[in-house]
Amino acid sequence: MSGSELAALARELRARAELLDEEEWQALPEAAQQRGPALGAAEMRSEGLTLTRSLEGLAAEVEACRKCPLGAQRIKPAFGVGSPSARVVFVGEGPGYEEDRRGEPFVGKAGQLLDKILASIELSRETVYIANVVKCHPMVDPSDPEKRGNDRPPTPEEMAQCRGYLEAQLDLIAPRALIALGGTAAKCLLATEDGVGRLRGRWHDFRGVPLRVTYHPAALLRDPSHKRDVWEDMKELKRFLEAA
Ligand code: URA
Repeated sequence: MSGSELAALARELRARAELLDEEEWQALPEAAQQRGPALGAAEMRSEGLTLTRSLEGLAAEVEACRKCPLGAQRIKPAFGVGSPSARVVFVGEGPGYEEDRRGEPFVGKAGQLLDKILASIELSRETVYIANVVKCHPMVDPSDPEKRGNDRPPTPEEMAQCRGYLEAQLDLIAPRALIALGGTAAKCLLATEDGVGRLRGRWHDFRGVPLRVTYHPAALLRDPSHKRDVWEDMKELKRFLEAA
């Protein structure tokens, strides 16, 4: 089953689940099997997707996750924040120092800038959903989580271990659009080595969901000359959501 069929099924299951009681929910995989091309639980597992009832359930899985060493090193996982029915999901790289303490993505300086970027097109942390490609803080020196400037990008192995959580999050939220913030998110979602400069300015596809790449807010803090590009990207997102 293709990514877009999987996403469509997840959307349908979510819409139906809101109308189901506990017993009916438990029967969902069977119900799905009776609906032609829909997925059963075993198929979902074979696609690397755990059928999880809610984002809360998924967050609990992440809390207990030790699939890579980051799980035992971090203070708090930063699972995701925002509306479970958001029309757009912003995906960053991974939690840093502040996020590790608060257990929430994008709450440090880059997060404050992201809040302003969202506000520029009348969005907010409450109306969108914000997540990262890895949920736990990647540290240069994991023996000293109190050290500042101890952040590093996630390794390909760490991203691969965490990818199923991001995919499940996106399937549950079923957004109309995705924004990859920076090169690491773009690399993870689009399986590309191209940089942001080459990827931005057009719509891509992530498992059937239109995806746009823009600069990471931390990159804007380092090099404000990209602010105009991000503004163009946000205007295009606004246009897209208004038409969707
Ligand atoms: N940078 C990210 O990519 N994610 C965060 O949550 C914070 C900073």
